[in-house]
Amino acid sequence: MASYRPKNILITGAAGFIASHVCNRLIRNYPDYKIVVLDKLDYCSSLQNLLPSKSSPNFKFVKGDIGSDDLVNYLLITEAIDTIMHFAAQTHVDNSFGNSFEFTKNNIYGTHVLLEACKVTGQIKRFIHVSTDEVYGETDEDAVVGNHEASQLLPTNPYSATKAGAEMLVMAYGRSYGLPVITTRGNNVYGPNQFPEKLIPKFILLAMRGLPLPIHGDGSNVRSYLYCEDVAEAFECILHKGEVGHVYNIGTKKERRVIDVAKNVCKLFSMDPKTSIKFVENRPFNDQRYFVDDQKLKNLGWSERTTWEEGLRKTMDWYIQNPDWWGDVSGALLPHPRMLMMPGVNGSEETQSESYVSTNADKTRIEVPASISNGKHQPGAQRYQPVNCIE
Ligand SMILES: NC(=O)c1ccc[n+]([C@@H]2O[C@H](COP(=O)([O-])OP(=O)(O)OC[C@H]3O[C@@H](n4cnc5c(N)ncnc54)[C@H](O)[C@@H]3O)[C@@H](O)[C@H]2O)c1
Repeated sequence: MASYRPKNILITGAAGFIASHVCNRLIRNYPDYKIVVLDKLDYCSSLQNLLPSKSSPNFKFVKGDIGSDDLVNYLLITEAIDTIMHFAAQTHVDNSFGNSFEFTKNNIYGTHVLLEACKVTGQIKRFIHVSTDEVYGETDEDAVVGNHEASQLLPTNPYSATKAGAEMLVMAYGRSYGLPVITTRGNNVYGPNQFPEKLIPKFILLAMRGLPLPIHGDGSNVRSYLYCEDVAEAFECILHKGEVGHVYNIGTKKERRVIDVAKNVCKLFSMDPKTSIKFVENRPFNDQRYFVDDQKLKNLGWSERTTWEEGLRKTMDWYIQNPDWWGDVSGALLPHPRMLMMPGVNGSEETQSESYVSTNADKTRIEVPASISNGKHQPGAQRYQPVNCIE
């Protein structure tokens, strides 16, 4: 199989979780590739995630929004970009049950802007679009065969609906304009650098504080987790060996119930699960299971390397060693952190624990950061402005 060799790669969203691992890996392994990161430094991002790449001569960071067509066109032309790996998105399902317009704006419109810039500049040889297993919707509890890449897309929540919508545009630009697109649909990912609104880092940070671990519903929902380094390797493989026009699931057959994840974390922290696990109200809709067939990617030579036990321990060690990576994340550790952004550290009572959300008739007040600097929220600065939104 012929191997694709990119020259100048634009990675979107690489101050976030998965793409930071992909960027750091490519910078480490391919000093001849130039990598430009475009990220708007949203609440869930940190420039620290890119520290391993920062001093490399082939790395450049640009703070900006994928929804800015002028900026995207400018970058594609001036940096002679031939490859795009598009990770940037609003990613938290709980948030999407609140202000889902942000999901449409970032995930669908943002992807559209990138695609249109590719069309206008006409120089892109690979557009790798990063989607999710959630676009398939939930898998039956007793299904023995996972969703394969040609399975129907049946998203069930606003997040996955916007990811499916973005996929439709990607597919259309592939067909209409011959844009060389590849789409990935991945299972859940965990590991260092992940913002603690997501289940595993949230459980670890709560356990570090000796606080109970909240479980949505009865915890019987099943999820499949891949370790971040294995996923970065999957993207390295797809970048070089993926076939244009194809979709690749990035999956694992190993599934675990959310309650078992909580019990595993309790065990690592020598906590008694009977007293340390708290059952809370379920999400408006909580898919039971996402089960994908991962054979197609395996045929390209990729396979999962990290065991669950090893990955969870490495993740725990990293969060213990880096307790302040994200600053004050008390808001993210709530059972349902349904907001756009996280509360601050500026001592304002309003931004402490659950009190930052106050309901006013049918309007909910949420807090958004007013200033972000160097990928980290400015300690002591006025970071939150009240905004009204209708839920
Ligand atoms: N985390 C998972 O388990 C998982 C699983 C499957 C697929 N995915 C997909 O992988 C991708 C990355 O997920 P993640 O968990 O690493 O995300 P993340 O939330 O950690 O990071 C997203 C990054 O995108 C940036 N961003 C968001 N909107 C932007 C915009 N309009 N312009 C520029 N930058 C913007 C944010 O600042 C952030 O750095 C997403 O597309 C997600 O749908 C994630």
